[in-house]
This record gives sequence, structure tokens and C-alpha cells, in this order.
Amino acid sequence: MCGIVAYLGHRQARPLLLEGLKRLEYRGYDSAGMAVINGGLHVARAVGRVSNLEALVTADPGFTGTLGIAHTRWATHGGVTEANAHPHRDDTNGIALVHNGIIENYSALRTYLTERGHVFTSETDTEVLAMLIGELYDPAHGMDLEKAVQAALREVTGAYAIAVVCEREPDTLVCARKGSPLLVGVGSGEFVVASDASAIVAHTTQAFPLDDYNVCKITREKFTTSTIHNVPVTPRVEQLELDLEQIELGGYSHFMQKEIFEQPRALRTCMRGRLDAAEGTVVLGGLRQFAPQLVRSRRVILAAQGTALHSAMIGEYLLEDLAKVPAECEYASEFRYRNPIIEEGTVVVAVSQSGETADTLAALTEAKERGALALGVINVVGSSIPRITDAGVYLRAGPEIGVASTKAFTAQVAVLTMVSLFMARRRFMSAEQCGSLIRELEQVPDKIERVLELNDSIRAITEKYVERENWLFLGRGYNYPTALEGALKLKEISYIHAEGMPAAEMKHGPIALIDDGMPAVFIATRGSQYEKVMSNISEVRSRGGHVIAVATEGDQEIHHHAQDVFYIPDVPECLSPMVAVVPLQLMAYHAAVLRGHDVDKPRNLAKSVTVE
Ligand code: M6R
Repeated sequence: MCGIVAYLGHRQARPLLLEGLKRLEYRGYDSAGMAVINGGLHVARAVGRVSNLEALVTADPGFTGTLGIAHTRWATHGGVTEANAHPHRDDTNGIALVHNGIIENYSALRTYLTERGHVFTSETDTEVLAMLIGELYDPAHGMDLEKAVQAALREVTGAYAIAVVCEREPDTLVCARKGSPLLVGVGSGEFVVASDASAIVAHTTQAFPLDDYNVCKITREKFTTSTIHNVPVTPRVEQLELDLEQIELGGYSHFMQKEIFEQPRALRTCMRGRLDAAEGTVVLGGLRQFAPQLVRSRRVILAAQGTALHSAMIGEYLLEDLAKVPAECEYASEFRYRNPIIEEGTVVVAVSQSGETADTLAALTEAKERGALALGVINVVGSSIPRITDAGVYLRAGPEIGVASTKAFTAQVAVLTMVSLFMARRRFMSAEQCGSLIRELEQVPDKIERVLELNDSIRAITEKYVERENWLFLGRGYNYPTALEGALKLKEISYIHAEGMPAAEMKHGPIALIDDGMPAVFIATRGSQYEKVMSNISEVRSRGGHVIAVATEGDQEIHHHAQDVFYIPDVPECLSPMVAVVPLQLMAYHAAVLRGHDVDKPRNLAKSVTVE
């Protein structure tokens, strides 16, 4: 989604802002812009890549200055045009503003401001906020930039992270947040504000996240933080848990490729210190305090979107199978609006890589208000969802930059497995059974490493089918969600139409799609439904489909059924999605590269969807 970076300090703002914007490119955007204070206010905006903006500002001497704000926009209100790109300005005082989020009452505010004689030049909600701040700005009567921002934000509903400058206050940067993340990086005599730590970490590792309804005024000497009602707040500056190496390609061609290959390491970090095979116990510090409530829970609802929904679906199977607790999984976007019934003993688990997905955040808020115990399975530390949960478990997968989620998926499944074992062990599971599953879980990273060795053959097989425009992904039981994930990966980066479904569902309609040579990817690993999957494969073959199977090492039988086979190591059925998904991730990656697509910045997609 949109990205913000702002700078006030002793260095030139322009190169720093451009570098910050490039680090934020992965979030997805369609236009970019920058404002620098240099005598007056200088603003440049461009549709398309940050490089287009770079070409504009590099040639312009107006953009030499040490205070500036910049933005990458992902269109919500108004089309992808230069006029709609940020920064937006007021029409009187030389105020410029960049904004992430949505001002929900912008229409009423626009009418009010139009009646006051203001003329708008864009279709955005953001320009309304810039104009409102300008309308309230009156330094002669105590309404300086900070106070005008506070007053304006008291009038708006919706979500925002903003950074604001004014040519009449060339030593002041004001930023604020409600519902959309914003970090203030505190360097030596300089400040870098950004919506994402990746734009800060090259300059300082000291930062604090702004809280909702908080406004931060930064001058060249210091910063002060207050609420929008001007009550002082003291933030805690902390060390950022991120280093540059984690957000750089380091020899890989794309972040998605890097993150697929990072999975063994990410899973080892995710599990480190949390498993005790000898004792048959799982140690999850974040849940310890709530263990009695979890043991007594009557129902678990998992809410998520996209890839996180697929891991949550596996979580549903795991919780019922291992912990014997009724579980259901749902799109967060549906859950929040359908008046859900939350009875005593209901636990709601939000699963999200970013911790910022608007629908997942809103679903958890709704569930909490209705009395559920609110848990989070989140990757980004300190993001919005963990800030409202009662408890949770972080993935520790490291930053995921590729828009197509890969290592977060396997880490989410690993965490949901550990949560299921944590509950199972306190309910019905013996130490021996738990210990033996833990030993298997600990071997998963090694098994993924062996699958990654198949990279070249996976590429070769993908090449055979890459021109086909329609694919099916089929699986049963634990690997039905894996099939959904395989289809999602393929469509989002290669733009091939792919459908995932339970293998048995195919006969109820989708089988009509199968024509000569249509690729059908089956997760056909050894397990309780192996024979059934073989029957489904035959149904596809007899209609001319080409079957690509993910099968268990040593299964020779599969060659009688599938034209192409990826062998993965044997793994217990309940843990198999973490290993079986890897060839599907690699297929999607190679398909996108072979088709010449920008793997890390697929069209129309944003890394985290912070609007409904
Ligand atoms: O940050 P989240 O895990 O909450 O994001 C949820 C989805 O937006 C995300 O998984 C999306 O589907 C990815 N592009 C999938 O690769």
C-alpha cells in the first residue's frame, strides 16, 4: 500500500527521500511524489515508478533542502494521475501533506471547504485534509502547524498516517497516526519518519512507533509528542529489530526467490526455544498467561485474508485434529460484517504477516468487543494487530518484502502447529505423542532444504506449461489449503488464471474446464486420502489434462498417473503443507520470471492491504 518517508536534519533530504521511497516500493504503488522546503515549497509528482519522480527532482535545483516529505501512492480515491498523487497542498499557506489511509468523512469536509471558497485540484480524500489544515492554520493566533494538524484531526474520521510541512515553518515537520503505521526514527541531529522500518534502518536504528491519535512535532533540535487534544505523551525510543542485510537482495534476483530459499532458516528461528521434544512440551511465552483460558476454550475462530487465510485453514485442521477443539476459519472481511456469534469460551486468532491488514484488524477488534479472547499470529513486531491483541505468537520470519507471501506462510503454519500442540498437550495429548510430533516438526526445515535442491527441475517442468493460461490446483485434507495457496501464488505474479479447490469438488463443475493439455497440479503425498487423490488424477487424465504431482519420495506408483512429478521427503500428514507448498512457490516464481513479469512488484497488488 502507500508509503511515507520524511526527513528533517542536516543532510540533503532529496537523495534520502528517494532512497527511502525505493525501499518502500515493495509495498505496491502506482505513483510517487515529493515536497522539499527550500525558501518556498517545491512539489513534484509522477505517475509510475519512483525513477520517474527521480528524473523530475534530480534536474530541479528547488529540491535542495534539508526538510522534505515523500510518498508512494496506491490509488483508492481517484484514478492514477499526477493530480491525485501526493503530496497534496492547501491553497493558501504553502502546506504540503502525504497520507496513508482513508479519510472517511472527506465528502462532508470537502463540501464545507468548498463553501469556504477553497478550490480542489484532485479527487482525493487527502487533499481535503491538506486544505482543512490550511483553513485552520493561523500562527498569529496560536494555530501553528502542530496545532492546526491537531485541530484538523479532531474533525476527521477514518485512518491516517501523515507527514506535513509548511513553507512558513521551514524547521518543523509534523506527523500523526491513527490506524495506519508510522515510525519516527531518531538519529544524531536528524529525524527520519516512515511508514515502514525499512526506510529508516539505513540511517538510524533508534525509533518509536506513533500511537493512535498521537501527533509528533519535530524541529531541528528535538521532538515532542502529544495527543490530538494536545495532551503531552512520552514515547519510548527503542532499537529497531531489523538490519540492512535482511532487506537487501544479497545475490538473489528477487526478494520472492530469496524468501523462498530463506524458509529453512526462518522456520528454525521461528521454532528456536519453543520446542522441547524430550518433555513433549511447547513453550510459547506469549500464551503462557492465557493457558488456562485456552485449555477451557470451546471454539477457535481463525480470521485472515489471502495467503494468511490459507495458513489459517491449515490451522483449523490442526486445532481440531491435534487439540480436539472445534475450530473454523473465515475471511476476516466476511466475519466482521456478518454479526458473528461470540459465546463464552471463544478464542479468535488473527493471522497476518504484516499485522496491518485492515479487514483482519477490524475483525479482531469486533471479536474483542464481543468478548472473545483475541490472539495474533503475526510477523511484523509492533504492528497494529499485536497492539490490540490479548496475547499472541510472533512468526520471527524476518522481513518479507516480496509481495507474494512465501516464508510467512510456512512460518504461520509452523506457529499454528505449535499453538495446536500447546493446547493439545494441556488437553488430551500424551507427552510421547507430542514429543514425537515435535521431533518431526524440527525436521521440517531440513526437508524443505531438500525440496529447494529441486529448483532446476521445477524450472524445467514449469517451462513446459508456462504458456497455458488456465491451471487447476487440487488437494485433499491438509493439502486442500496448500492447493489454494499454489493457485494464489501462480495467479498473483504470473497473471495465469489458476483455481485451487478440494480435489473432490472438481467433479461438481470445474471438471468441465479440463481440455487437452490443461495443467492440473495435484498434491498427492502419501496420507489418509492418497487413493482418493489417485482417482481424481485419473478423472483429469482421462479428459486430456496434464497432471503435475507433488508426491512422497519412493512413491513409484505415481508415475502411472502423473506426467510430471516433484518428489518431497516423507513427512507426517499434518505437517506436510509446509513441505508440499515449496515446489508450488518455486513453480509460480519461475512462471513469472519466464513470462517476463516483475516478480516483486506484481501489477495492481500491494504488500499489505490497509484499506477495506
Ligand atoms: O499481511 P497479511 O498476511 O495480513 O496479508 C494478507 C494478504 O493480503 C496477503 O497474504 C496476500 O494475499 C499476498 N499477496 C499473498 O501472497
